[in-house]
Amino acid sequence: MSKVRIGMIGTGGIARNRHMPCFSKHSDVAIVAAADLSAETLKQAGEQFNIPALYSDYKEMIAKEQLDGVVVCTPNKFHAPATIDALNAGIHVLCEKPMALDPAEGRAMIAAAKQNNKILTIGFHYRHRPQVKAAKKIIDVGELGHVYMVRVNALRRRGIPSWGSFVHKHMQGGGAMIDFGVHTLDSALYLMGNPKPTEVTASISQHLGTKPNVNPWGQWNYQEFTVEDQVAAFIRFENGASMLLECSWALNVPESKETISLSGTTAGLDVFPLKVNKAQYDMLTSWSPDWMPDDGIEPGIGQAADFVQAIQTGISPNATAEQALQVTDIVDAIYRSAEAGRAITL
Ligand SMILES: NC(=O)c1ccc[n+]([C@@H]2O[C@H](COP(=O)([O-])OP(=O)(O)OC[C@H]3O[C@@H](n4cnc5c(N)ncnc54)[C@H](O)[C@@H]3O)[C@@H](O)[C@H]2O)c1
Repeated sequence: MSKVRIGMIGTGGIARNRHMPCFSKHSDVAIVAAADLSAETLKQAGEQFNIPALYSDYKEMIAKEQLDGVVVCTPNKFHAPATIDALNAGIHVLCEKPMALDPAEGRAMIAAAKQNNKILTIGFHYRHRPQVKAAKKIIDVGELGHVYMVRVNALRRRGIPSWGSFVHKHMQGGGAMIDFGVHTLDSALYLMGNPKPTEVTASISQHLGTKPNVNPWGQWNYQEFTVEDQVAAFIRFENGASMLLECSWALNVPESKETISLSGTTAGLDVFPLKVNKAQYDMLTSWSPDWMPDDGIEPGIGQAADFVQAIQTGISPNATAEQALQVTDIVDAIYRSAEAGRAITL
């Protein structure tokens, strides 16, 4: 079987630290081309991963390289245009998270995938973490009953990205929530079975990002910080479930933590670390796994394999574009609710 020909659009941090190493390890894949606006970044990536064709313009790359798939790793502003251009050229797309700046862009991406009958999946690699995979198995057999309360924490005490364009709203669409909170929000929705959200109430702030501050990830440009550094939200769903969500890049809390806690009618489950709690035998009990498959394996390996399998077999990728759009719809409603100071009906 001939190799799946992959091209990279954007060769910065996430491309070089996750996608290129993971796709390179896949026996059915050849990374045959890459494009980046930065000649220096492109050259480094090309040398590091032995990529034969390098382009300053991704449009030229997709026109010339007979690609099967591209991985879009640009700042968020270019996710929709690069994805739509690739889909219209007949190329399958794995686009980094978040799907898009806003729901209108996300819908246009889905329309392009449908029109061209091509795969579109989004880089929610947490779904390939062992705890999320195990939680999904436990929930799908009905262990929790009806899941009606979910708590999501994506809290960094200090962890503002200081590279690239992460603190610029016009490039990224937002800050902590659209960048970091989307992972745990997506995993929580996935574990709940993606019920339809109906109402979102939220507040956001930018008290720490707009001033110089200690930050283990380096000093960002605080004078140009135009996004939120903290979010609190309450989300209602059509099936009667509710979600309490907290997210920060910087917040005066004692420690950073990422948790998803699902409470159902017959049991509860915490995802990080995995723990099931339940009333049984007239006792309150809890259990945790002693061993899980894929523990310690970079989740980008599973993500790359999932995209390649979808290309080769037509089997739906794990993170569908429709599910990713649900995340974008909620993030957009969070920002609109915070701005309007009231609940937003979806
Ligand atoms: N899944 C994750 O956990 C995760 C982690 C980090 C970043 N990301 C996502 O990956 C994307 C990139 O983040 P990063 O940390 O790699 O940023 P980065 O700044 O390190 O890299 C982005 C690269 O894109 C290039 N670029 C910009 N516009 C371009 C264009 N029009 N065509 C081609 N190249 C272009 C830049 O020159 C840069 O090299 C973002 O959307 C971010 O949200 C995801």
